[in-house]
Amino acid sequence: MQNTGIAIIGSGSAVPTACLSNQAMMDLVDTSDEWIKTRTGISQRHIAAAGATLSALATDASRNAIAMAGISASDIDLILLTTSTPDDLFGSACQIQAALGADKAVAFDLTAACSGFLFGLVTAAQYIKTGVFQNVLLIGADVLSRWVDWQDRGTCVLFGDGAGAVVMQANSSDRLLGFKLKSDGSQNHYLNLSYAADSQELTPGVTVSKGAYQAITMNGKEVYRFAVQSVPEVIDKALFNAQISTEQVDWLLLHQANQRILDAVAQRLDIPKHKVISNLAQYGNTSAASIPLALDEAVRAGKIQNNDIIAASGFGAGLTWGAAIFRWGR
Ligand code: ACO
Repeated sequence: MQNTGIAIIGSGSAVPTACLSNQAMMDLVDTSDEWIKTRTGISQRHIAAAGATLSALATDASRNAIAMAGISASDIDLILLTTSTPDDLFGSACQIQAALGADKAVAFDLTAACSGFLFGLVTAAQYIKTGVFQNVLLIGADVLSRWVDWQDRGTCVLFGDGAGAVVMQANSSDRLLGFKLKSDGSQNHYLNLSYAADSQELTPGVTVSKGAYQAITMNGKEVYRFAVQSVPEVIDKALFNAQISTEQVDWLLLHQANQRILDAVAQRLDIPKHKVISNLAQYGNTSAASIPLALDEAVRAGKIQNNDIIAASGFGAGLTWGAAIFRWGR
């Protein structure tokens, strides 16, 4: 019989080498190490060099995930790149496919901001559940430093660059135990990276809009309020769908946006601090990369062990949010 369960069997990550400390941020905007640490938990962020590509970062993370999974690039059926910052607006997944030499794989991009990895996980799972694909490479990668207003202290201190990836494989038992995804476009205006149009008249009566993108704009207070309210709710729903109690959860793996959000969500769910994965002090908010990056670090550090139950949740622009409950490993 065909395997239509899902196992997540390998992880990998990559970050740019250059770091921007809170101290260095003080040269850019009116801020302090103390303000950033106490309000966000962030100490530094990794920043992609000018000329560096998202595809190269994502390819490095993917190679590490593929090696841990013990498969080869030619075994991959699908490459799903979740990102809001592709090198090319037509998509960057195919560039990664070529760099990996994954000649059998179909590759495409999916955008759901900081929920991208979570939405990608559930999307990829459907292809495995229906028996269409056996091996999926799921990547979360973002280079938000390209789109930050480095004069806006309310946003520029928050974001960093990075990439994380996992290999998902068809398995006899389903280790993706439950999930729940949500969107609310009526709150879209709280967090945007909007197209900035300049109109240009081509010929009399025919005007086109030609432009670039604005820097990130955010209503931090509203996004914060939304996160601490909606994330515990969606995790509860995913746990219910998985028939798993909060006591059975080994690790709470949230999108790494703000330490205060991590603490508040854990408190509402009554999950003790030692079960909360946190690495945002070193990386800041790396958007779609944050969950797989934190997952990979915890796996390689020996914290997350085979069979551990992970409650993961992403949230961000859209607004979008979601949770997935899965067992790590084969
Ligand atoms: N340094 C010093 N002071 C600052 C800074 C800074 N970097 N940024 C803002 N301030 C000031 C403000 O101007 C304000 O001053 P005022 O009282 O004189 O007006 C004061 O600090 C308080 O500002 P608040 O915005 O109320 O600060 P708050 O405690 O809400 O923290 C923060 C702001 C960290 C942005 C918080 O709201 C937050 O984390 N929100 C969620 C953000 C988030 O997670 N976004 C990403 C989602 S993921 C995605 O999809 C991209």
